[in-house]
Amino acid sequence: MTLPADHIAAGLVIVFEHWGEAAGFVVVVPREDGKADLDGPFVEPDLWRSGIGRKLVDEAVQFAMALEAAELLASASPRAEPFYAKCGFVPMEKLDTTHGPVAVMSRTLIY
Ligand SMILES: CC(C)(COP(=O)(O)OP(=O)(O)OC[C@H]1O[C@@H](n2cnc3c(N)ncnc32)[C@H](O)[C@@H]1OP(=O)(O)O)[C@@H](O)C(=O)NCCC(=O)NCCS
Repeated sequence: MTLPADHIAAGLVIVFEHWGEAAGFVVVVPREDGKADLDGPFVEPDLWRSGIGRKLVDEAVQFAMALEAAELLASASPRAEPFYAKCGFVPMEKLDTTHGPVAVMSRTLIY
């Protein structure tokens, strides 16, 4: 995946390093409605199921709260939906996209 240069420049990308190499990342994008979009996380496949995805979501939550967002929203493919559910997201609506069905999932940020 290619990261938009403006997201990198704005400091919205969180990278997880494993033995000095980038092993995963997540992007937090503030929205005009006071919420924030979560893009990812994406973790290197040989490191799946070792807790990196959850750590990235936890960091993204802290970042979104520092931005005073009320809610984090994620677009989950059917494969990723159980992961988001484990990370405290609840499904809000189902959408049909050109990439297939996605669930819009939300995690309310508690201050
Ligand atoms: C989805 C993804 C980020 C998960 O990362 P990960 O590092 O494997 O996740 P974690 O190890 O932190 O898992 C956190 C919890 O979710 C569960 N989980 C992770 N992937 C899961 C899956 N595909 N199905 C069911 N549960 C899953 C884990 O078992 C764990 O549960 P536990 O706390 O009860 O043990 C990773 O599989 C990935 O990069 N996938 C491809 C990109 C993608 O789909 N990203 C999502 C946005 S489009």
